[in-house]
Amino acid sequence: MIRVTDLRKHFGPTQILKGISFEVAPQTVVGVIGSSGSGKTTLLRCLNGLERINSGTVECGKVRLEAKLSKAEYRHRVRDLRREVGTVFQHFYLFPHLSVLANITEAPVHVLRRDRKSAETEAYELLESVGLKTAAQRYPESLSGGEQQRVAIARALAMRPAVLLFDEPTSALDPKRTVSLRTMLRGFVTRGHTMIIISHSIGFLNGLADKLIYMDSGEIVEQGPAEQILNDASDARTRDFVSQAS
Ligand SMILES: Nc1ncnc2c1ncn2[C@@H]1O[C@H](COP(=O)(O)OP(=O)(O)OP(=O)(O)O)[C@@H](O)[C@H]1O
Ligand SMILES: [Mg+2]
Repeated sequence: MIRVTDLRKHFGPTQILKGISFEVAPQTVVGVIGSSGSGKTTLLRCLNGLERINSGTVECGKVRLEAKLSKAEYRHRVRDLRREVGTVFQHFYLFPHLSVLANITEAPVHVLRRDRKSAETEAYELLESVGLKTAAQRYPESLSGGEQQRVAIARALAMRPAVLLFDEPTSALDPKRTVSLRTMLRGFVTRGHTMIIISHSIGFLNGLADKLIYMDSGEIVEQGPAEQILNDASDARTRDFVSQAS
């Protein structure tokens, strides 16, 4: 279970997140939508501890982040949090000096101390599921943007985190790959993962997200079951956004 309560974040005098509260039930997918600059990526960075929150709480499993914690304690809890939470960033940040295979096995072997052989076997399975089995020995710079994005997704999944955060996971994918990614992610949810997915693509989230959150100017305008947000939103701003984005 993830619970975010009255989360606030500012950069200097500018309030970016103005009291965000929501919950994510285990084994469900929450989609976050909203116009550019509404604070989606900042929210994600607060959820994985890359940005320190200014007030409120973030609870994820047994880990609780609070603004009032000392710097050392905050860092300690973020380390615990990262064991549970994996992130696929908007820009994929693959390690340029490592092959595709090594990009995927690096953390399972060195952080989780998994046996290299079994980590590689699993990496090949993941690469197969994202359609890149033959690219295992290649280096990131030789891959297309969409291929790099799929490697980044496989790399995150290789850590088997309970919670996965995605920032625009389909930005570099063509329609066919987008559909197969949706099917694949749904499979991971069935197997026990929980996800928060930021996406501009309503089509991608439709059928994948259980719940949707619509953000505007650092606030949640509306949240609810995906069906309701997409077809019967109560706030006019949500209806406008959904109809323009669809
Ligand atoms: N480190 C920072 N310092 C100052 N302002 C920042 C910082 N990071 C983000 N912002 C500002 O916070 C606002 C929200 O940015 P954020 O990246 O969260 O938006 P977003 O909803 O993810 O947008 P997009 O859909 O374009 O990715 C923007 O106005 C951005 O310029
Ligand atoms: Mg963003």
